[in-house]
Amino acid sequence: MKLFMCHMYVFILFSMSITFGGFAQENKTDQKAVLVTGASSGIGLKITEELSSKGYFVYAGARKQADLDRLNAMDNVQSIKLDVNKWDEINAAVETVKKEGRGLYGLVNNAGVAILNPLIEVEEADLEFIFNVNIYGPYRITKAFAPLIIESKGRIATISSISGILSHSFFGPYSMSKHAMEAFTDALSAEMKKFDVHVSAIEPGNYNSKIIESLIKRMESNDISFKNSLYKEEFEKLISAYGADRSRFKDPKEVSDAVEKALFSDNPKPRYMVVPNEMEANWTITQILREMVQLNENQSYKYDREALIEILDKVLAETE
Ligand SMILES: NC(=O)c1ccc[n+]([C@@H]2O[C@H](COP(=O)([O-])OP(=O)(O)OC[C@H]3O[C@@H](n4cnc5c(N)ncnc54)[C@H](OP(=O)(O)O)[C@@H]3O)[C@@H](O)[C@H]2O)c1
Repeated sequence: MKLFMCHMYVFILFSMSITFGGFAQENKTDQKAVLVTGASSGIGLKITEELSSKGYFVYAGARKQADLDRLNAMDNVQSIKLDVNKWDEINAAVETVKKEGRGLYGLVNNAGVAILNPLIEVEEADLEFIFNVNIYGPYRITKAFAPLIIESKGRIATISSISGILSHSFFGPYSMSKHAMEAFTDALSAEMKKFDVHVSAIEPGNYNSKIIESLIKRMESNDISFKNSLYKEEFEKLISAYGADRSRFKDPKEVSDAVEKALFSDNPKPRYMVVPNEMEANWTITQILREMVQLNENQSYKYDREALIEILDKVLAETE
C-alpha cells in the first residue's frame, strides 16, 4: 500500500509539472514566450511584470548585472544581457532563446532613450546616440529575431510615441527617431503579412519612467550644458517644467495592456495610441489632421471638404 501511495504521489507530481508551465521543462512550448528589450525600468519593466504575472514567459533584456539579477528572480522571467547596440550580445541572445526551446512568439522593441536639444545646436554624436538606440536598435533586434518570430507566426510590437506624430522645439531628435518607428512599423507590417506575423506600433503619451532621469544623468556626465545656447532661457524653462522626477505621471500599466493586446488579441491593430488624458489625445489627433490639411492645401488635385470627409468615411470603414 505504501509503495502504491508513493507511486501515486510521483504520478501526481509529474502530472502537475506537465499542467503548470512555470513548474516544468516538459511544457515549454505551451507557454508563449516574449522578448522585451529595455526591461530594467519604466514601460519595459511594467510589460515584463504584467506579462509574466499572466503566465507568459518573458525574456527580459537588460544591461546591468543588478537589473539582470532582479529580473531573473521574477517568476516566468529569464533575464538576458542585451544592449541593442551590440551585435555580439544580440547574437548571443538569439542563441540563448533557441537553446531554451520555447520558440519566440512575441517581440517588444521597447528600449529607448531621449535627448533634448535644438536642431541647430545638437552635436552629431548626440544624434548618433539616440538614433543608434531608438532606430537601429529595433532594426537590429527585429532582424535578429525575425526567423524565430516567423517560425511561430508571432507578433512584433514597437514602442513608438505620440512623438512619432508630434514634433516640438528641443524634441526634434527624439521625434525624428519616433517618426522613424512609425515608418518602420508600416513597412515591416506589409513585409511580414505573407508570414502571418502581425506588427503593431504603440504610441504612449506621458507616463512615469526613468527616461528624463537618464537624459539628465547623461547630460551631466557628458558635460552637456546650455549656457552658450541661443535657446538658454527656453531650455531652462523646459527642463524645470519637465524635471527628472516623472512620478506625477501615471504608472504605464495602460501601455502594457496595449502591448498585451498587440501580442495576444485575436484582432491586433496596427496602432495603439495610449494617452493618460484627453489633452494628449487631442494634440496628437489634431496634428495628424493638420498634416493632412497642409498636405492637401497646395497640391494639384486638392480635395474639397466633402471629398475629404468621403475619404475619412472610407478609412473609418476599413478599420471597423
Ligand atoms: N515614459 C514615457 O512617457 C514614454 C512615452 C512615449 C514613449 N516612450 C518610449 O518607451 C520606451 C521605454 O522608455 P521608458 O519611458 O520606460 O524609459 P526608461 O525607464 O528610461 O527605460 C528605458 C529602457 O531602455 C533601456 N536602454 C537604453 N539604452 C539601451 C541600449 N543601448 N540597449 C538596451 N537597452 C537600453 C534602459 O536600460 P538601462 O537601465 O540599462 O539604461 C531602460 O531599460 C522608449 O522607447 C521610450 O521612447 C516612453
